[in-house]
Amino acid sequence: MKAIIWLFVCVFFVTGCRREAATKIYVHVPVKSLTVAHGGVSCANPYAAEAGLSVLEAGGNAVDAAVATQFALAVTFPLGGNIGGGGFMVLRTADGEVAALDFRETAPAAASRDMYLDAQGQVIDSLSRFGGLASGVPGSVAGMAAAHARYGRLPWAKLLTPAIKLAEEGFPISAWEAGRLNKYKADFQKFNPGPIPFVKAARWRAGDTLRQRGLAQTLRRIAEMGRDAFYKGPVATAIVKAVKRTGGIMTEEDLAGYEAKWRTPITGYYRDYRIITMPPPSSGGIALMQLLEMVEPYRPDTMGFHSAAAIHLMAEAEKRVYADRSEYLGDADFYPVPVAALLDSAYIHSRMPALPERATPADSIGPGHLPRHESEQTTHYSVVDSAGNAVAVTTTINSAYGSKVFVEDAGFFMNNEMDDFSAKPGVPNQFGLIGKEANAIAPGKRMLSSMTPTIVERDGQWWMVVGSPGGSTIITTVFQTILNATVFHKSPDEAVAAARFHHQWRPDTIFLEKGGFAPEVLDSLRARGHHIVERGGIGAVDAIFRTDRGIRLVADPRWDDGVAGQ
Ligand code: DON
Repeated sequence: MKAIIWLFVCVFFVTGCRREAATKIYVHVPVKSLTVAHGGVSCANPYAAEAGLSVLEAGGNAVDAAVATQFALAVTFPLGGNIGGGGFMVLRTADGEVAALDFRETAPAAASRDMYLDAQGQVIDSLSRFGGLASGVPGSVAGMAAAHARYGRLPWAKLLTPAIKLAEEGFPISAWEAGRLNKYKADFQKFNPGPIPFVKAARWRAGDTLRQRGLAQTLRRIAEMGRDAFYKGPVATAIVKAVKRTGGIMTEEDLAGYEAKWRTPITGYYRDYRIITMPPPSSGGIALMQLLEMVEPYRPDTMGFHSAAAIHLMAEAEKRVYADRSEYLGDADFYPVPVAALLDSAYIHSRMPALPERATPADSIGPGHLPRHESEQTTHYSVVDSAGNAVAVTTTINSAYGSKVFVEDAGFFMNNEMDDFSAKPGVPNQFGLIGKEANAIAPGKRMLSSMTPTIVERDGQWWMVVGSPGGSTIITTVFQTILNATVFHKSPDEAVAAARFHHQWRPDTIFLEKGGFAPEVLDSLRARGHHIVERGGIGAVDAIFRTDRGIRLVADPRWDDGVAGQ
């Protein structure tokens, strides 16, 4: 008997997320990395990775698979996967066409600059994070429809089939998800007095089935009628009802008027690599390019991986880049973001003309002086297909389970993305980020993001597809992962697993993953004048790499993330 149990346990762990033929339920042990010949998906949840793979197997391309993954994540990763939020897609087709799709949430028409301030002009901070007033107008469904309309190959309805099945039949949750649901139970009950699928009398445990019949019905409507099934009719009515019930201002007109927008990606070279990344309203692309360019003259590769010297260099660059972010970045449709000036090599080098020996205090750093303004809980997934198309998507409802407001008649959580605006100049948001005019609230405006879905190209084809959740740490996470794989020559698995650190100018602190760095390195950073704080996991990188042996799908070992490929 013992032997049989052990055999079962071994098969369970070795086979990873495999379908059990009889029940069609996936065993929930994510495969963390895999080398494949044709294509695959790396994302926050193994069921969603399998959903994307099933679409590739059915002849879909990487965009089709991305759409299927997005909808499946909305079911199996309720913490950050969503239809009640928004995000960005960066893609590169096999023939070299690049595109960036902005499906970021927008401020409702009734939003106003001071909507989170009290009579004394102080920020009432929970207002932008909890309840109906925290939500922007969701963009995810419009984004998926726009991506599919331009690049999809399989019929739209087919892409939602795996998500509908997962919502309808349910799936066994992981220990991690059970922990999250237990942790947020009181919040869920506070904002949702009626029954919701995420609250039950007993504590959630690993292996419990999570069924979401209301969401299944909404997804079925979207499958049958397309994006309008979300933005008009009963689902739109349900969203407005839930948002208004909890103090919000979103209207059916806000929803009917939502549009995803195609943008020109930020592209540029770093050594032999071409970086294709997200423009505003994300700060991610501009910040990533600034970081790569600012550290390069100091040759981080000669300093040694995870050395105090390399961390010092990168942290110094990060302070300067986040200072620029706070001043200049916002929705370029509303504010003249000086994109070209911020990406100008001479300007970037002028921000750190010499590497300081000691930590530069944040107070003595400010945003750069530009010649003149030109006018002008999140989840990331990466997908590639056998034709050579690559897609990077980061999508979010901001905090874990967004505003905690559940649209009871349609089965999903609403985002709390409004907190990404600057509620008041200089007052930090939940990620400690500050902003000014560029990111002030205005009706219809998109709030500034740090999401950095990125494709790295080499020798005329995609070489790395990368991105991460993590709020303000997204940019530095993507930056480090790219440096790990390029100048530090780490293998794909090491590049993703390596301990990470982060500086965002204010607070004037280097945050490092606890236990990931040698004590001498920490001492040496302190001796240079850096304030150090150790913390839990930073980011969740779900990436894909082209290697000599094939396509390497890598999911972040830190969480539930998984890969699936063929
Ligand atoms: O768009 C942004 O930058 C944030 N709303 C992302 C939030 C996030 O990554 C939370 N996840 N851990």
